Amino acid sequence: MEREFDLIIFGATGYTGRYCIEYMVKCLQNEARSYKWAVAGRSEYKVRRAKDEVSKLIENDLSSIPVIVADVKDEQSLENMCRRCKVLLNCVGPYRDYGEPVTKACIQTSTHQVDVAGEPQYTEKMQLLYFKDAENANVYIVNCCGFGIIPFDMGVHYLEDKFKPGHVNSVEAFIDIDSYAGNHGSWDSVIGILAHRDELIATRKKLHTEFYGSVSPNFKYPLKTTILPFISYKLKRLCIPCFYPSDDVQRTQLFNHIYFGQKPIQFMSYMTIAKFLYVVLLALSALFVVFFSRFKYGVKLLKKYPHLFTFGAVSKTGPTRDQVIDSHFKLTLIGHGWSEEGANENEDINDPPDRKIVAVIKGQNSPYISTAICLIVSAFTILEESANFPLKGGVITPGVAFRNSKIIERLNRNSVKFEIVES
Ligand SMILES: NC(=O)c1ccc[n+]([C@@H]2O[C@H](COP(=O)([O-])OP(=O)(O)OC[C@H]3O[C@@H](n4cnc5c(N)ncnc54)[C@H](OP(=O)(O)O)[C@@H]3O)[C@@H](O)[C@H]2O)c1
Repeated sequence: MEREFDLIIFGATGYTGRYCIEYMVKCLQNEARSYKWAVAGRSEYKVRRAKDEVSKLIENDLSSIPVIVADVKDEQSLENMCRRCKVLLNCVGPYRDYGEPVTKACIQTSTHQVDVAGEPQYTEKMQLLYFKDAENANVYIVNCCGFGIIPFDMGVHYLEDKFKPGHVNSVEAFIDIDSYAGNHGSWDSVIGILAHRDELIATRKKLHTEFYGSVSPNFKYPLKTTILPFISYKLKRLCIPCFYPSDDVQRTQLFNHIYFGQKPIQFMSYMTIAKFLYVVLLALSALFVVFFSRFKYGVKLLKKYPHLFTFGAVSKTGPTRDQVIDSHFKLTLIGHGWSEEGANENEDINDPPDRKIVAVIKGQNSPYISTAICLIVSAFTILEESANFPLKGGVITPGVAFRNSKIIERLNRNSVKFEIVES
């Protein structure tokens, strides 16, 4: 496919989009690549300003990087933009509100798309409605390529790979972040998820019956999960269940089971928290969102005063650059399974899992920078390795798209480090 640009960052003026501009420069250097890229948004002035500001910040002349104007509300402008690149990096959110027209334009123009969506109303609806169209157009629409999913989804794949020739039965993920500061963009997405929970129930039901054919794997040794906070003495942390990446990782496992006959791995993730006070504040914040998101006026209040409802953690301007650069994340994945060769072929293993494996994935920067890195290396992976992808196209999660790729090596080279610490 010959196109004017290899990559376009759409939504380049946003909080995430700006880090994508900065890290596009850094990842291209790290990977020794010279892809042609451009930045896009709905206001030429704002996109230019964002590009100039990043340029000054990183002391790197970006004047040669072209600016493209496209608005989600203008279908023609989206198609014109998409036609100019091979992979579109879509940073325009909330995705439930703005994502569908972009996906449609990408399929229409045979352009691959990666995004950092975490809103199931969008990701599951896109898979339900557009999987076949994307497959027929040989287009990869890979949702969930941000920090929120990639380390988890690819982490399970990594554990499974390192566990061979045995089979992993279950994985528990414990995410430790040293800063809870966030931008209002992610907050608005969370509000949207809860305000439209009825929509999610209906979409999910349809996806599981119509798309996945009501397949529901049975496990002889089910993973024990809890919805209550608990203390992990080993991690020395309070842990609270976290359904957000779990649903998408489970969707990857189900997809790989149905399409490639792979025995699924059970998965659950937890957020680990250093102080009991933070658990109380988080619980209060969650209660506010659950309650206020039920009413139109409540949604307006939540969006207008994010700092009030999150005790200062989320703001209209997002975390400062120093906060972002000074923070880190550590994801611990604990897998249990069977060590014997060929166990993964056997549906009826009678003995309980006999082997443990632990991986740690560390980000040297905040989740926002890691999100930009994950998104960019996902786009590079499509450019360089789509010939090895298991499908010719479709609306899929990273764990499906990148299962045969070298994305983990790329992430390792770009400060998102995967390591086995116990085997
Ligand atoms: N999965 C993860 O780990 C992860 C991490 C970070 C963020 N996210 C998600 O990324 C999304 C963006 O977050 P953010 O904090 O970067 O938000 P943000 O700062 O509000 O950025 C939103 C972007 O969307 C653009 N936009 C809005 N309406 C548009 C339209 N009609 N046409 C074209 N562009 C439009 C904005 O452009 P203007 O500047 O012109 O308004 C801006 O560039 C959210 O959905 C968030 O949940 C996910």
